[in-house]
Amino acid sequence: MSSETTLVLVKPDGVQRSLSGEIIRRLEQTGLKLVGLKLMQVSTELAGRHYAEHEGKPFYEGLVNYITASPVVALALEGPDAIAITRKMMGVTKPAEAAPGTIRGDFGVDIGRNLIHGSANAEDAEREVALFFTSDELLRWERTNEGWITE
Ligand code: RTP
Ligand code: MG
Repeated sequence: MSSETTLVLVKPDGVQRSLSGEIIRRLEQTGLKLVGLKLMQVSTELAGRHYAEHEGKPFYEGLVNYITASPVVALALEGPDAIAITRKMMGVTKPAEAAPGTIRGDFGVDIGRNLIHGSANAEDAEREVALFFTSDELLRWERTNEGWITE
């Protein structure tokens, strides 16, 4: 599997509930490498671009209000299968169905407050990382213990 870079957002509820560190810890300790990290306010315009696929759906307005309500923590995570590993750690969209041990399963109860976003596939990941990070903000650094994490 070649390396991928995926976009993760700790959504406003995660930041408001002081879960940013816990969520970053869980993802970081998998061995995925942090290559981008920042606290930011999502504008209505950025929310519209990020969630374009959901425009017209009944939950769209609530979703844009949610993601723009207060700051998010944006992460770019790199590694083999970064997209699938991140989605597995998040759990499925609806917290009631998300497995114990996942972020949504452990910390959520409402689909409209499900704490975290992670890119769904390679095409979305490429588009979303570029929406949230400039190339200057992505650091392609060498990890000294890389050989103990990837073969
Ligand atoms: P995300 O994009 O946030 O990583 O989540 P996802 O792929 O698991 O879910 P997706 O289908 O892309 O939906 C995006 C976000 O919209 C909200 N949502 N609400 N009320 C509803 O029926 C409903 N459905 C989706 C959730 O916040 C979901 O994460
Ligand atoms: Mg999605």
